[in-house]
Amino acid sequence: MELPKKVVWITGASSGIGEALAYEFNKKGTHLILSSRRVEELLRVKEGCHNHEETVKVLPLDLSDADELPGKVEEAISLFGSVDMLINNGGISQRAYAADSSMETIRQLMEVNFFGTIALTKAVLPSMIEQKSGHIVVISSVMGKLGTRHRSAYAASKHALHGWFDCLRQEMYQNNIHVTLVCPGFVKTNITVNALTAQGQKYSKMEDAQKKAMSPEEFARKLLPKLAKGKEEIYIGGYEIMAVYVKRFFPGILNKILRRAKVT
Ligand SMILES: NC(=O)c1ccc[n+]([C@@H]2O[C@H](COP(=O)([O-])OP(=O)(O)OC[C@H]3O[C@@H](n4cnc5c(N)ncnc54)[C@H](OP(=O)(O)O)[C@@H]3O)[C@@H](O)[C@H]2O)c1
Repeated sequence: MELPKKVVWITGASSGIGEALAYEFNKKGTHLILSSRRVEELLRVKEGCHNHEETVKVLPLDLSDADELPGKVEEAISLFGSVDMLINNGGISQRAYAADSSMETIRQLMEVNFFGTIALTKAVLPSMIEQKSGHIVVISSVMGKLGTRHRSAYAASKHALHGWFDCLRQEMYQNNIHVTLVCPGFVKTNITVNALTAQGQKYSKMEDAQKKAMSPEEFARKLLPKLAKGKEEIYIGGYEIMAVYVKRFFPGILNKILRRAKVT
């Protein structure tokens, strides 16, 4: 399997991992569609790409507005004639205890991370089925495989993505549409700065784990070859990735470790 030379659509392309993925795909000469809410930031990322007038388009959207997403898909397809890979990367995190978090905040996390992502994917699928090829990529998290304090709704939204996209992979096999779930560990982005507190305010702090983590550029460099191999699930990060394997084989031990671990 090869990375599409044609059209890759990235959500959450205005910063962090999505921005770094845009530059990495741009180096390979891919046609790109960049989406998120902040148009000025998307235009800045576009400007940072080579040959951007011809190969990069900006398509603003809000993942929390599922009703507008089918229309956005029509627009996206009209930009270059097809979408060959959709990278569902846009998302928000959480820093609050489960017991304190308002239902509104929990719903907001689910709207963006889960419902927005599947609504966009559902709207893209018919065109991929018709062209008999496509690759749907989902940027989940280690939190899609386990849970720690202060991230209950975030972890729930990422776990939900694994359930939905694991089923989709089975259903789409016959249509030559691949599904890849990517689980980053810590990556140095503004994910914790933008995370929601109990009442839905911005947390506004970069955690130490993020400050010391790998850069989004390194993450993107590591991810592309793995996507090209058509892997179904990918883990990229530091020592924290070990937790996925400890959870799989010794879940009780992981629970004991996490109870005592310093988790911010
Ligand atoms: N950094 C990490 O350590 C880490 C670890 C595991 C998983 N992840 C995942 O990686 C993905 C990217 O996050 P990041 O680390 O790059 O953080 P980030 O810099 O905060 O990027 C988040 C992106 O999501 C977009 N976004 C947020 N809400 C949106 C909405 N309602 N509609 C459309 N776009 C929206 C933001 O753009 P706008 O504000 O312009 O809308 C931004 O481009 C997320 O799914 C996150 O869960 C990150």
